[in-house]
Amino acid sequence: MRILVAAASKHGSTAEIATALAAAMRHRGAQVDVVPPEQVGSVDEYNAVVVGSAVYRFRWLRAARAFVRAHEESLRRRDVFLFSSVPVTKGIRAAHNSYGVASVENRTGARGHRLLTGKLDPSRLGAGERAMARMCGVRAGDFRDWDAIGSFATEIVDRVSERGAEEDGTVTAGQADGRR
Ligand SMILES: Cc1cc2nc3c(=O)[nH]c(=O)nc-3n(C[C@H](O)[C@H](O)[C@H](O)COP(=O)(O)O)c2cc1C
Repeated sequence: MRILVAAASKHGSTAEIATALAAAMRHRGAQVDVVPPEQVGSVDEYNAVVVGSAVYRFRWLRAARAFVRAHEESLRRRDVFLFSSVPVTKGIRAAHNSYGVASVENRTGARGHRLLTGKLDPSRLGAGERAMARMCGVRAGDFRDWDAIGSFATEIVDRVSERGAEEDGTVTAGQADGRR
């Protein structure tokens, strides 16, 4: 089972989430590559693709959006999982609707979208970014939840293995549905 993790990050914390996710999936037996979305040439060799992005000004970073546009057709033919890294904010549900992720889910036929809490270190930001983060209602701190990342990894590997077993005929669709 080969899985690609392509996650767009500006200040590095989403890239670290991608690395941890990959390590947890490898631990469960998957072969995983972590490649920044702008460096991915093709997704054809992968059974599944995890696309993630940090959220800036209520939407995914350009690199993640461009990746989805460029590979849309190939993504539709494989298992796709999405995540956004965001700090915990009061309006997390309302904010989710504005990330443009619903359209990414539709276009890729993704099997779900996770909000994973991220990190904001004001000391690494310029004055403009600090002001923008405040305007977006973002709290400072490292909120990354390594257990949640681990359970997301487990869910991805289980679902992709289940799909592989269905395709091999070792599990019937009814059995697989019963386990979901
Ligand atoms: C200028 C700026 C704007 C941001 N805008 C949002 C936002 O609209 N919604 C949100 O939930 N988080 C927002 N964030 C928080 C980032 O999504 C969060 O810190 C993320 O984990 C950063 O990931 P990175 O280190 O990979 O770039 C913003 C952060 C900055 C610095």
